[in-house]
Amino acid sequence: MRIPCWTMREKSRIAVLASGRGSNFEALARACLDCDYPAAVVVLITDNPEAGAVSIADSFNIEHVAVDCGPKKGSMSPESSEKITAVCAAHKIDVVCLAGFMRIVKGALMAAYRGRMLNIHPALLPSFRGLDAQRQALEFGVRWSGCTVHFVDEGVDSGAIILQRIVPVRSDDTVESLSERILREEHVAYPEAVRFYATGRLRVEGRRVIIREGV
Ligand code: GRF
Repeated sequence: MRIPCWTMREKSRIAVLASGRGSNFEALARACLDCDYPAAVVVLITDNPEAGAVSIADSFNIEHVAVDCGPKKGSMSPESSEKITAVCAAHKIDVVCLAGFMRIVKGALMAAYRGRMLNIHPALLPSFRGLDAQRQALEFGVRWSGCTVHFVDEGVDSGAIILQRIVPVRSDDTVESLSERILREEHVAYPEAVRFYATGRLRVEGRRVIIREGV
């Protein structure tokens, strides 16, 4: 049976927040080109106008907005949190996807999108939270690593886990080779997790995210 195409009106509206290269943003934008995909990237919001993600947005014809999040590295000023929330409200955003956004979300944005905000992390959480996750995994000596898509809460990479994909760690791996292998899985995991979310298949029970069977 053919699944009917989603009309724009029915698609979940995504805002992607990114600070850098933007390959996960691109993976989401690409998935959204498929009319059977239940979501659409409506706006890219960045704290870095020089981000590679900005030129990717241009190539996909996606609107982008730069918001100065303040001088404190890794943190966002209350004003910037309000500004981002206002941009999301103006674009009628249903779900916020963090994709290499180098700030801890707090304030108005957290309050407005709790339970509706996702992040991708390049390690198998709860191991190796925070920066340089691939280096942490390599130096710790794990045999397997991977990526995790999770809901965002107030902590650092601490929200309920939606899905994970694994990769082997090889004895000759460098941070670069391991990161590359993980990144390929990130580009599969994030669109898949957003699909689950947008089709209403996720239910959170405490720390556990139950994924209902479905199309
Ligand atoms: C990815 O490894 C993602 O897991 C992490 O930051 C990196 C962003 O890469 N949160 P990109 O900008 O999506 O290429």
